[in-house]
Amino acid sequence: MRGLLISWEGLDRVGKTTQLMRVARWLEEEVGELLTVREPGGTPFGEAVRDVLLHQVEAGSNLAEFLAFAAARAELMEMVVLPALSRGAVVLMDRFIDSSVAYQAFGRGVDLDLVQNVNRAVTHDRVPDLTIWLRGEPFGGQGPDWLERRQAEYFQRVESGYAWLSRKEPTRWFIVNSRQDPDVIFEILQTRIRSILPAKGGSPT
Ligand code: TMP
Repeated sequence: MRGLLISWEGLDRVGKTTQLMRVARWLEEEVGELLTVREPGGTPFGEAVRDVLLHQVEAGSNLAEFLAFAAARAELMEMVVLPALSRGAVVLMDRFIDSSVAYQAFGRGVDLDLVQNVNRAVTHDRVPDLTIWLRGEPFGGQGPDWLERRQAEYFQRVESGYAWLSRKEPTRWFIVNSRQDPDVIFEILQTRIRSILPAKGGSPT
């Protein structure tokens, strides 16, 4: 079984996680097995990497920062996400491979081919069936951790990374304007996700 993998992307604080949780509550009634995970995180090692990256030490090297995100991703895929997908689960991922392309390659200048090659290796080539991009205004300079305190030009580069990715794979990407009423956003998401859900009782193809 292939399961169904839906990733969620967007700049910090566009309401991504709030909408994801709302969709998860709805999907719990609709699908057999549902799994919600965040990146970095989702395993004890991944959560430790998250704590280091977001709260303890800012990496001096952009490459080191990327490889730390990738290490957490490798473990999450191998131990949690790929096994769940092979059971036919629907998996919602709060950030995934595209965050590294947008934040580390476009945002921090890490070599794009390297980021994509490592992404392919750590995911065993599993790409999302759908990627939801909650698109909002770049912001900078505020926030609880230093990743969020980086400057506005950085977030503009990240945003241009998302735009580049979505142009490359328009069928995978679903772009939603985050400046709409949250109830409207939720309905838009429900309609799109319903169109790819397996029939009740069946497994995702
Ligand atoms: P979150 O606040 O959405 O949970 O994400 C954590 C931060 O980590 C956010 O600022 C984006 C950043 N991040 C990257 O820079 N690269 C990555 O590959 C991932 C997964 C997150």
